[in-house]
Amino acid sequence: MNKIPVITIDGPAASGKTSVSRELAQRFSWSWVSTGAFYRGIAFVALKQNVDLNDEAALIKIVNSDLWEVCMSPDRTQFLYNNQDVTDEIYKEEMGSAASQIGQHQKLRRSLLEAQRNCVSKVEGLVAEGRDCGTVVFPDADVKIYLTAKSENRAKRRADEQGASFEEMAKAQKRRDKDDQTRVAAPLQVPENAHVVDTSDMDLQQVVEHVDSIVRAELKI
Ligand code: DC
Repeated sequence: MNKIPVITIDGPAASGKTSVSRELAQRFSWSWVSTGAFYRGIAFVALKQNVDLNDEAALIKIVNSDLWEVCMSPDRTQFLYNNQDVTDEIYKEEMGSAASQIGQHQKLRRSLLEAQRNCVSKVEGLVAEGRDCGTVVFPDADVKIYLTAKSENRAKRRADEQGASFEEMAKAQKRRDKDDQTRVAAPLQVPENAHVVDTSDMDLQQVVEHVDSIVRAELKI
């Protein structure tokens, strides 16, 4: 049987990873997963249960529990807590910061790997996006993309999307980028052999076209 194709898209907050991977997956009729949902969701459960985000052992207990589930769907990566869909709640910016905080823990990251890698079973192909998809989760991915954009563009995109203040968003993202890039455990970095795409001066369709052509050229399809 042929190997299931895996495309990874990594990059900082609001670089366009989600929109691009969703549309790319649609074009190829593949599945996609936002690995941020795992971090956001576990942080959400921890906060609900009054678990300290610095208590790695307690967080790993949550990971190993049956309290949660991540479900891939064509529109977004859903997170269920006690069988309730809490996806809207995990995608708020404050949960992004909490996710970044728990993402600092090395053993916690390791404990999430199996569930993340399982996303590639029973699918035709997978587009996986996050911070360490090309470096750690799927190091043998067929095509690796690294999306980036100027920090002002990214803050504006996310502030517009969430109807939030640009200044507040810029501050929160700056902090999150720094934490994600400087952490010891699987820091955000450009994977080896990745195609780096700066989306600052491109609209979504241009980015999708560009990434689509990279993928087709690499996979010879
Ligand atoms: O992609 P996102 O905004 O949903 O991610 C939220 C946070 O989760 C991000 O700031 C850091 C953490 N994260 C991570 O550490 N590793 C990943 N592969 C994905 C997200």
